[in-house]
Amino acid sequence: MAGIVKVVGTGPGDENYITPIGLETIKLAEILVGGQRLLDTFANDGQEQFPVDKDLKKAIEYINEKRYSKNIVVLVSGDTGIYSLANYLTKHIDPDDLEFIPGISSIQLMFARIKKPWNEAQILSMHGRTLDIVVEVVKQSKMTALLTGSPWTPQKIADYLISEGVLDMKVIVGKDLSYPWEILIDTTLQELAKVEEDYSNSVMVILNE
Ligand SMILES: C[S@@+](CC[C@H](N)C(=O)[O-])C[C@H]1O[C@@H](n2cnc3c(N)ncnc32)[C@H](O)[C@@H]1O
Repeated sequence: MAGIVKVVGTGPGDENYITPIGLETIKLAEILVGGQRLLDTFANDGQEQFPVDKDLKKAIEYINEKRYSKNIVVLVSGDTGIYSLANYLTKHIDPDDLEFIPGISSIQLMFARIKKPWNEAQILSMHGRTLDIVVEVVKQSKMTALLTGSPWTPQKIADYLISEGVLDMKVIVGKDLSYPWEILIDTTLQELAKVEEDYSNSVMVILNE
């Protein structure tokens, strides 16, 4: 249908984790819009590509210019419903003109890895946030799952929680989930605060047991 923009949740990263319907939708696209990493992973020969950077307004302008004449698909990481560009699109494009195809979230995969249900977890993203909100959430929840991101690395979060008087708790960090080089670090807040490795692209689960 003319004007409709499909938004595909591509899963946590590795191409084995995208759904068949997501993959089929991408194959049929004439234009793909998304972060460079997603374009590099999922674009097919002959598809026009528009890399999304920090200038989201420019991406909306481009989508609106093209969507009535071309089959356009927006790629987002993980699921469309968790801290995603998909939500921004609903604020700038009539939601009736959007179709979301969900994907496996990094949060979902993390809970599968640690074999715990995520229905009771509090989920927060640290992207562009201040840390004060996390302290209360961690103290009051049995399980907190954090999407870590610049400037808040798992180590900085652990360090801050300790400095705010949060008792030592069990923590699991899942880095680069779904990729062959994925790692899970099973530790505690105090131990994590001392580690110097690069844990970017991680989900952090804090257990208040
Ligand atoms: C902007 S959020 C997007 C979340 C995405 N919509 C989802 O459902 O996973 C990006 C954050 O998700 C987490 N993330 C995304 N992919 C990941 C992966 N493969 N392994 C670990 N964490 C990941 C990281 O915390 C990253 O900073």
